[in-house]
Amino acid sequence: MEEKIKELIERAKIESDDIKNESDYLNIKSKYLGKKSELNDFLSELRNMTLDEKKKYGPLLNSVKIELENIFTVKYEESINSKEVINFDPTLPIEYHLGSLHPVTITSNEVTDILANMGFLVLSGPEMDSEYYNFEALNVPKNHPARDMQDTYWLDNGMLLRTQTSAIQVRGMLKYGVPLKICAPGRCFRNEDLDASHENTFFQLEGMVIDKNISIANLIYTMEGMLKNVFKKDLKVRLRPGYFPFTEPGFELDATCTICDGVGCATCKNTGWIELCPCGMIHPKVLKEGGIDPDIYSGFAFGLGLSRLAMMKYQINDIRMFNSGDLRFLEKFNVK
Ligand code: DAH
Repeated sequence: MEEKIKELIERAKIESDDIKNESDYLNIKSKYLGKKSELNDFLSELRNMTLDEKKKYGPLLNSVKIELENIFTVKYEESINSKEVINFDPTLPIEYHLGSLHPVTITSNEVTDILANMGFLVLSGPEMDSEYYNFEALNVPKNHPARDMQDTYWLDNGMLLRTQTSAIQVRGMLKYGVPLKICAPGRCFRNEDLDASHENTFFQLEGMVIDKNISIANLIYTMEGMLKNVFKKDLKVRLRPGYFPFTEPGFELDATCTICDGVGCATCKNTGWIELCPCGMIHPKVLKEGGIDPDIYSGFAFGLGLSRLAMMKYQINDIRMFNSGDLRFLEKFNVK
């Protein structure tokens, strides 16, 4: 039997040189290792052998099986690799597609540059955050109705995908203390029904200033200064009341419509104003959560919708374009 096995392996080696593709590989495997193979015949003979013979030939035949499998697999892999080499033609011209920055990144960089020039520290917080930083620390306890406004992606590990960059507020206070002037751009997530103005993944920029004697006047002055720089236009802002559990008082901030300069047009529905940014004076409970004494310090915060701002800036009418990965759209923003 040993002679026959030797001869079988020799034959298999020679034939394996012909493996050129997957089907050759499968065929030769079936021929040498399948049910009707010589090897299988040898294995069947084991049944009629004595115990001593079984002990000798059993392991031998098993090692032959492994050896044959190796021979075929190595040849098959060689055939794949050699094909790759043949398919690569280094003389073909190569088209270089240089990437460009995403419109939201461009907008984010512009706004953070402006804020950094105004003395803000630029921070980034985690996209996967705890219920504490995203809600509870912001005076939104469990069962608070305000949670309904932010349909949240809960994760199996008990964390969540942050629904707002406001999650950075208490983190920032605890880490840097007072006086504090920070901003934090970042991606946020909400389980929204998608349409032209709603996405489940969008960008915000949080800003926060805390010191002694910070008032609404400081908020207005700062926002006006920032927006004038963003839109490179002289514009006015106005505040309307708005409700956020982490502000007291809270506002919706409008700015002069940048399309018609306040005269009235379709974009601003003839009001001359566009809604730009929710903001407010930081709630005393939130300051306390951040280890700051609300009797001594006060502050304001704002949550600028970066995706919306980029839409206004570049006149993009469908927010879904941002995450579409559509190169025809992205290539228009060829700013490096
Ligand atoms: N985080 C709020 C939201 O996404 C927006 C916001 C409102 C941020 C008021 C603030 C603020 O910092 O003071 O709806």
